[in-house]
Amino acid sequence: MKINENFLKLKDSYLFSTVARKTAEYKSAHPEKEVIRLSIGDVTRPLVPAVISAMHGAVDEMASAATFKGYGPDKYCYAYDALLDSILASYRKKGVTLEKGEVFVSDGAKSDCGNILDIFSTDNTVLVPDPVYPVYLDTNVMAGRRILFSDATEENGFLPMPDGRVQADIIYLCSPNNPTGAAYTREQLKVWVDYAKKNDAVILFDAAYEAFVTDPACARSIYEVEGAAECAIELCSYSKTAGFTGVRCGYTVVPEALVRGGVSLNRLWARRQSTKFNGVSYITQMGAAAVFTEEGERQIGENLAYYRNNAKIISECLDGLGVWYTGGKNSPYIWLKCPRGMTSWEFFDYLLENAQVVGTPGSGFGKNGEGFFRLTAFGTEENTRRACERMSALLKQS
Ligand code: MLT
Repeated sequence: MKINENFLKLKDSYLFSTVARKTAEYKSAHPEKEVIRLSIGDVTRPLVPAVISAMHGAVDEMASAATFKGYGPDKYCYAYDALLDSILASYRKKGVTLEKGEVFVSDGAKSDCGNILDIFSTDNTVLVPDPVYPVYLDTNVMAGRRILFSDATEENGFLPMPDGRVQADIIYLCSPNNPTGAAYTREQLKVWVDYAKKNDAVILFDAAYEAFVTDPACARSIYEVEGAAECAIELCSYSKTAGFTGVRCGYTVVPEALVRGGVSLNRLWARRQSTKFNGVSYITQMGAAAVFTEEGERQIGENLAYYRNNAKIISECLDGLGVWYTGGKNSPYIWLKCPRGMTSWEFFDYLLENAQVVGTPGSGFGKNGEGFFRLTAFGTEENTRRACERMSALLKQS
């Protein structure tokens, strides 16, 4: 028996587990101190009434033999029509037309980011941005793929563009970006689409934060860009859009037009999902279907406005302190430059020990993240304000 030795090449623990462990160690050494967490992008607003009411209705259906549901419908990999119809309608508002068979409902974008790799050869070369959401990197390390990096830096606004000299087969793009909050315009994405088509590559486009886009020049779906259906898979989630981090629901779009080596990637993914996955619970799907109704959209709009206001509070605090940052405009993440030349982990410790505020060290996302730090706007407004007051008091005094 041999283990998968690629796992030995991974860092000891997942970034957010390390942050959680360090925070817990500080808490147990200082039980009297109140720590504010603005680190992992976990939401704090409750599910909106339209979702709750749809879920209650679905629970009641499960209680009666006449309306009880077992496995979901086989036709669309266990997704119900009501949910697929509402996803399709949400895409139409972005000017994108999809067919039901192109949308695969899952338990979230994080799992799909890893699972989608099943349909690609391990011989492929992967291009990931640096800094990067650790899941893209770690899942490819686990599979033993060759990994190249595209540098996201202060100079290019943390939005790297393709380098014609680099040949990659699988390209990860995340916009609005986790961790930097930077968002590509349609024009920039067109350059990536053209590059992918020229190289016969496939773009894995993580759109988990699309609901935060406010700039009309920025895309909310890669399919807003001409030609993307022939080279891109889009991964999307209800987590950040509708507060489903604990409920778990997302979807992956694999267009019919996406063919490589004469084979439909849609067919491969459908085959993979029907073999290894049994669908998302009916109750969750009915809750998700309510998100893109008129009422649901209005209600989630209020939650999104709440988080945008938190981002504004953090941005204004950093403006007042003269700290450089990006993000916070089309994104719930604020990516700041650590003051006084501190490294990311030095600033993490400094903030935790002196202000009891927890963020995420930029270096945990890659070498280009060194010297940067990520704060999330997903906290409560009260905690966001208090964290900013503490940071201001600390950084002004020292
Ligand atoms: C983050 O903080 O980067 C996210 O919460 C991670 C995730 O969505 O899995």
